[in-house]
This record gives sequence, structure tokens and C-alpha cells, in this order.
Amino acid sequence: MSFSDRRDRTSVVGEDLQLPLIGGNMEKYVNLDNAATTPSLQSVSKRVTEFLKYYSSVGRGTGFKSRVSTVAVNDARDVISDFVGSDRDYNTVIFTKHATEGINKVSKRIPFTEDDVIISTWLEHHANILPWRHLEKEAGVKVVHAKINPEDGTLDVNDLYEKIDRYRDDLKLMTITGGSNVTGYLPPLKEISRAVHRVGAYFMVDAAQLAPHKPIEMGTPSSPDRIDFLAFSGHKMYAPYGVGVLVGPEHVFEGGEPEQQGGGAVDLVSQDFTLWRSPPAKEETGTPNAVGIVAIAEAAEHLSGVGMDRIEEEEKEMTRYAIERLMEIDGLTLFGPKDLTAEDRLGIFTFNLKSLDHNLLSAVLSYEYGIATRSGCFCAHPYLLDMMRVPSDRINEVKKQIYSGIKANIAGAVRASLGVYNTREDVNRLIEALREIASGADEFTARYKMNERTGEYLPREDLPDYREYFSVRE
Ligand SMILES: Cc1ncc(COP(=O)(O)O)c(C=O)c1O
Repeated sequence: MSFSDRRDRTSVVGEDLQLPLIGGNMEKYVNLDNAATTPSLQSVSKRVTEFLKYYSSVGRGTGFKSRVSTVAVNDARDVISDFVGSDRDYNTVIFTKHATEGINKVSKRIPFTEDDVIISTWLEHHANILPWRHLEKEAGVKVVHAKINPEDGTLDVNDLYEKIDRYRDDLKLMTITGGSNVTGYLPPLKEISRAVHRVGAYFMVDAAQLAPHKPIEMGTPSSPDRIDFLAFSGHKMYAPYGVGVLVGPEHVFEGGEPEQQGGGAVDLVSQDFTLWRSPPAKEETGTPNAVGIVAIAEAAEHLSGVGMDRIEEEEKEMTRYAIERLMEIDGLTLFGPKDLTAEDRLGIFTFNLKSLDHNLLSAVLSYEYGIATRSGCFCAHPYLLDMMRVPSDRINEVKKQIYSGIKANIAGAVRASLGVYNTREDVNRLIEALREIASGADEFTARYKMNERTGEYLPREDLPDYREYFSVRE
């Protein structure tokens, strides 16, 4: 497959969108906000449209369409299982709303006690911090976080191994991101998995950022470097139809009560007892999102067809190029690993430019250059604040301000993140824009006004009428 064939096969819906810049010019939209959410692959959108003809209730109806839909959903489990190299006989594939739900489900379905320890890291997205913090309060579990190296945002693996060793007798679960949504940093999963399994604990990976970019091999139940639980989201892998996945050992979900209670999860309900179905049905209470499930399965099939190894290699090449070019920009501070081999990172670049407010920089990129990025702390406050070396006094001060109803902008940065469909020209557009902004950084403040409540910057000029592009009203 040549590069241009590959590009055709990974084209996404809306790729050619032209948008109005302030001042009136039209420009091709450059989406560099893929770590937040991705557009739909063309193939996914097409497959969903084909499926809608047959869409009907899953696992319940006797109608022809119901049968087609049920078979499609069941086949999707096998597709997902193969996509992540999971053992189909040992693990179950549970469809969720997103990675967040998958992680929360694990926190509720492993029977933790107050004698248990969970180890995580300070690299994590809030989705992989808060469920464990909740468990700490609810079940008295001890939650311990491995430190990061603030200078390059990598994991302090020595600290992690020391903690695994210290809590070896009580460690029940180690949970870590497969790839950081802030710096793109890839922790050494296999090595960590081996250390965790040596002390007999479960190893869980939040693969929200990893799944669209690198091949995943969960391994067999006896592999020392296996992944026991894996969660990810369809909307970050070119299937934005409201579905996510949790893969984990079936036996864990057999005992106890499901997280949510209701129809679809039961074999029998009498006036005084309930018999639960086996997983995954037990964990998928209510009507399943068959459209989303078909979409994520198509995304997995399609990306596998292109080749996850190939996607990884090509994205690595683009990442190297982007780091090199970003480092040329005067006054740009890039967070995370800056190693030009890009071996231990994804194409996610978080940076600040001179003394420009991050929200203002992101606004200028959007309104004046047509480039979509994100600004803020990216739902990973502990990680970013640690790298930005925000002292705890300042964090406590902001906490007090928030308690008293004042919107406080603690710190933040701008994030540009690549998807499989981005090109060198997209990176060049970002670099050229940043260069121009860097050379005239002082002019922007006067052209924008800040919303005091949200910290967001809006141009003083009139914005386009977004309803002209899409409206839910006729
Ligand atoms: C690393 C990581 N984990 C978890 C999540 C949560 O994903 P979702 O919002 O799809 O549940 C995100 C989303 O940004 C993420 O980047």
C-alpha cells in the first residue's frame, strides 16, 4: 500500500472543511485536537449508514432485523478482542459509554477491601484518578501514586518499583495510562506489567490514547506481561458514536451484583429474587448502543486492515518532524519527552508560547489561523501542575477562591494532537502560525476579550453564525 493509498483509507468525515477566519478569509480547517476526540473515519460513517437499514433491538426481538443486529453486536466483541490481542475464552468484552465508564466499572466490580492497595501514577487523566479516590473514601482502600520526573514528564520508574515492592503483600491492582493525554508519553507497560504480576496483582491500562495509535497485545492469562483490564473509547479512535470498551477477565464480573441494575442483565426476576445473566450481558444493563458498537468494530477492523504497526511508524515519523519544528520556535516551552527519536511518545504536544495566556493562544490559533487545539489542564491537573511546578500554596489559594465562587485560572497550556489522517502540511500550518504569533505576541491581547467566568478568549469582531453550518432546528 503506497502512502497515498494509505491516506485515502484513513480519510475522515469533514476533512475538507473550509471555515471563515476573523477578517473574512476562508481557510481549510486543520484539526489538531485528536486527543480530545476524533472525527469519524469515512469507512465508519459508511458502515453505520449501511447498518441503520437493519438496526433493531439486540438480544431481545425475534424479528429479522433484530437477528441481524444481534449477530453484528456479538461479532463486534470478537473484532474488539482481536484488535487488542485478548484471549477470547478468558476475557469478556463489555461495551460501555467510554473509557471513563470502563475504569469506574473495574473500581466497582473488583471486590476491594480496606486491606487492599492500589497503585497508580501522577501521569493520569482524572478518569484514572477519581474512581480510585472514591474507593479510598468508600472502601478504605489505600491508593498510592508513583511520582513523575517533572522536567520531562516521564514516569519515575524507580519510585514505582519501590512502591510495588513496598506494598507487595497487599497490592491488588496497578492502573496506569497507556499513553499520556498531555505529553503523549508512553510508559514501559510490559516491564511494569511483569513487576506487578510478580507480586500477584492485576494490571490495568487506560488505553484511551493508546488504542488509536499503537498495536495492543493484552496477551494470554499466563503471560507475565499481560494486561488484565483495558479500557478505551470509540470517539478517540474515529468512531464517535457514543461507545467505549472494557476488556477484562470474565470471572471478575461473574460474582457480585452488576454496576447498574435493570433489564437485559437478568435471566429471571421473581417478586423476591434476581438471577443475573453471565457477563458481558450482566454488565450491559439497558438497551445496548448497537450503532456505536458497529462503529467501533468497523474502526478496529479498518485500522487493523491499514496495519496498526504501519500507523505507529508513520505517526512516529510525523511526531519526530513536529517536535523538531516546534523546538525551532523562539519562546516555545514544550512539555514532556523531547527525545527526537519519538520512541516513547505519541503525537501529542503540549506547550506554552512566551508569556501569552494559553487560552488566548488557543483562541488565536482557531479564530485567525483555522487550527483547532485545546487549552487548559486537559483533565490531568496533578500531572500538568507538577510539570509546570505550580507550588502547593498556589493550588490551595486557588482552591479557596473556587470555594468562594471566584473562577480562578490556575495554570495551563495548549495541546496540539495528531490523528492518523493529519499531514505534514497540517504540522507546517501550526508551525507557521506559532512563528507569526511569537513575533507579534503583544498585539493579540487588545484584539480579544476574556470571559471572566470561563477564562475563554473571544475575538472582539463578530463571530460567524454557527447555525448556518449546522442547526438542530429546521
Ligand atoms: C488518557 C485518557 N484516559 C481517559 C480518558 C477519558 O475518556 P472518555 O472521556 O472517553 O471516557 C481520556 C480522555 O481524554 C484520556 O485522554
